[in-house]
Amino acid sequence: MDSELKSFIEGLPKVELHLHIEGSLEPELMFKIAERNNLALEYDSVESLKKAYKFNNLQEFLDIYYKGAQVLIHEIDFFDLTWAYLEKVHTQKVHHVEVFFDPQTHTERGIHFNTVIKGIYEALKKGERDLGISFKLIMCFLRHLSEEDAFKTLEQAKEYKSLIYGIGLDSSELGNPPSKFKNVFKEASNQGYVCVAHAGEEGPAEYVWDALNTLNIARIDHGNRSLDDLSLTQHLIKEQIGLTICPLSNLELCVVTELKNHPLKNMLDKGLLATINSDDPAYFGGYMNENYLAISKALELNKMDIIQLAKNGINASFLDYDEKQKLHKILTDYIKLSTV
Ligand code: HPA
Ligand code: ZN
Repeated sequence: MDSELKSFIEGLPKVELHLHIEGSLEPELMFKIAERNNLALEYDSVESLKKAYKFNNLQEFLDIYYKGAQVLIHEIDFFDLTWAYLEKVHTQKVHHVEVFFDPQTHTERGIHFNTVIKGIYEALKKGERDLGISFKLIMCFLRHLSEEDAFKTLEQAKEYKSLIYGIGLDSSELGNPPSKFKNVFKEASNQGYVCVAHAGEEGPAEYVWDALNTLNIARIDHGNRSLDDLSLTQHLIKEQIGLTICPLSNLELCVVTELKNHPLKNMLDKGLLATINSDDPAYFGGYMNENYLAISKALELNKMDIIQLAKNGINASFLDYDEKQKLHKILTDYIKLSTV
């Protein structure tokens, strides 16, 4: 890739729509938090922990990801985690983030819901104030657990309804289709939450249909397998349903064998509302810039493709019309300046 395109990508105003906050826990911070909480990690150094980050599939990653999250005990831990992410993406020109958190990963260990959400939310508010990064918080249900457990989590969230914008669905996809959660998503919709779901990452295109038809979702997380089904592809294009694509995650979890085989360019050319995101940046080798750079290089994306991806990020976000217009203006000004 030529250096001009590289610096264009680095300076590009961006929006991140698929980010698990627990997946932004860098090894260095994990060790620091473990130490202050008097917890021993299975690994004796940051280097040996990093060596364990080799995954053949989603489940192998999840096993390590849930273990890593166990160092998070106090509100300050959740705050520090979130703040570190925001400081990082601020340097990468991220203007707006829609952040997932997994309360069950913590409440299952006896951590209070309040501790988790307060730490995350306070950092997001500080990010808005001090860094100018707007945000939406999305609470995910773990799909390997029961629908009853998800209902309990929805109940716990009631007190914090004003802090949570949406509901999502993550964790082990195969064998846990969206329809397993149809009642709890119906209730969440009734309560006024906007709903999203991971679908078509490892699971088939039918899971994407299932999420659309039974969970009333507004956006698909991943959705890589959508292109396997022509009528689904046509539906996603016609309705302009956002797909939050995560290139480095797809590579690290073997959803694609190499980035050259990634369907993103094909998706863009067909007119799908595909966006670039980092998923779990501490585990998959990079944040927004690294994802944009890696996929642009592998698929030989041109400047127009990259601009389209940035526009798609704004359009697929849950910002309101005026907020979107503001970001489009920032993007347009950047593009004008860069061509001078
Ligand atoms: N898929 C499903 N669950 C997850 C992921 C993912 O990519 N990242 C964190 N939890
Ligand atoms: Zn994800």
